[in-house]
Amino acid sequence: MAYWLMILLGKLLTSFLLVSNFLQQHFANGEPQVPCLFIFGDSLSDNGNNNDRATLAKANYQPYGIDFPKGTTGRFTNGRNLPDFIAEKLGFPHDSIPSYANAAVGSVKKILKGVNYASGGSGILTESVKTMSDLITMDEQLINHQKTVSRIINKLGNKNATRLLNKCIYSVAIGTNDYINNYFLPKTFYPTSRTYTPSQFAQILFQKLSQQLRTLHKREARKVVVFGLGLLGCIPYEVRINGANISGCVDKFNEAVILFNSRLKSLVSYLNNNLTKATFIFINSTGISLDSNIPVSNAACCQVSELVSAPQCIPLPFGKVCSNRTQYAFWDELHPSETAFSAIAARAYRALLPTDSYPFDIQRLAQL
Ligand SMILES: *[C@@H]1O[C@H](CO)[C@@H](O)[C@H](O)[C@H]1NC(C)=O
Ligand SMILES: *[C@@H]1O[C@H](CO)[C@@H](O)[C@H](O)[C@H]1NC(C)=O
Ligand SMILES: *[C@@H]1O[C@H](CO)[C@@H](O)[C@H](O)[C@H]1NC(C)=O
Ligand SMILES: *[C@@H]1O[C@H](CO)[C@@H](O)[C@H](O)[C@H]1NC(C)=O
Ligand SMILES: *[C@@H]1O[C@H](CO)[C@@H](O)[C@H](O)[C@H]1NC(C)=O
Repeated sequence: MAYWLMILLGKLLTSFLLVSNFLQQHFANGEPQVPCLFIFGDSLSDNGNNNDRATLAKANYQPYGIDFPKGTTGRFTNGRNLPDFIAEKLGFPHDSIPSYANAAVGSVKKILKGVNYASGGSGILTESVKTMSDLITMDEQLINHQKTVSRIINKLGNKNATRLLNKCIYSVAIGTNDYINNYFLPKTFYPTSRTYTPSQFAQILFQKLSQQLRTLHKREARKVVVFGLGLLGCIPYEVRINGANISGCVDKFNEAVILFNSRLKSLVSYLNNNLTKATFIFINSTGISLDSNIPVSNAACCQVSELVSAPQCIPLPFGKVCSNRTQYAFWDELHPSETAFSAIAARAYRALLPTDSYPFDIQRLAQL
């Protein structure tokens, strides 16, 4: 066979393999593994809900989104965030779960595959957002979800709507701001750390969250993923303003988080026993991130202001951005990079260690 022909065939074969690989990744079985994905939470999940709100908790300016195909969207990171990766693992097309801000207007068709209600800066407790003004608290996110559910019922009828809602996955990643914007703030801002021990405060959060998860269950949620908190004492901003212990982190903050996470895991176990026909799973974000080997985990990739109150990126072109973003676990001084989100989502979806998720991972939850 002529040499050029072999090369041509080789090229054709390569493109065929690339195309079939692409098709396999994007259209495996033609459909995502679950019909819909609803997302609740804070800046780890927000995909633009705060853009038009009167708040400082916004990321709708460059360099946010520098690695996201559409550019700046309001996501608090350089590229895709936590639920973006979860959605992709579940087989949803890229960026196909609309923000509530977008989905609340327009056709019902937009909401049948899920909605993202998450709002940067929000927390489990409504009082945790006082310093950040016009945010959508977890309670309000649940009210917004009720509106979505009503629209779905109007469209499909009660029975079919229930059948659909039972099959969806619900992602809940909330609680970080109850610590960093509330309990960990100096006592002059918030009295909580003077009033409550870490254990008492975790108990307050845990009671409120338990109520919120039950509300979700009343709205027919049967497959719920609850993300544990990351090691908030290792966030570069917390280290900068509080000073580090030998560990390189603020130990007392991490201790509070570990306590909260172990309670959260018990809550998941309790709800599984208490609410019939529903499955809640806990994701051990702390364990997973400790185990990931991203080279730089103690500094932000983008340049932030030295002001105590400004942990976010300085807008382009005034601020700089690190050259190799995959080497950084933190994008700004508060928020994980796309690389860090990808690492957590990968093991939330398919656990590597038995401690990564409880009682099992998202892949198995999807199959139920
Ligand atoms: C409910 O779903 C069934 C089966 O898919 C379909 O035949 C029926 O028309 C649906 N009902 C409504 C009110 O859409
Ligand atoms: C961490 O540092 C703080 C402040 O320097 C200190 O009070 C605390 O005892 C240290 N904690 C541990 C566990 O070493
Ligand atoms: C579920 O929890 C409720 C409220 O805490 C309690 O009244 C009920 O007895 C529990 N049911 C089961 C089966 O544990
Ligand atoms: C999370 O994972 C770490 C490391 O695998 C483990 O030590 C820890 O107990 C886990 N935490 C929970 C709440 O399961
Ligand atoms: C960026 O960092 C990653 C991870 O350390 C490394 O694999 C890659 O080669 C680096 N890329 C460049 C252009 O230096």
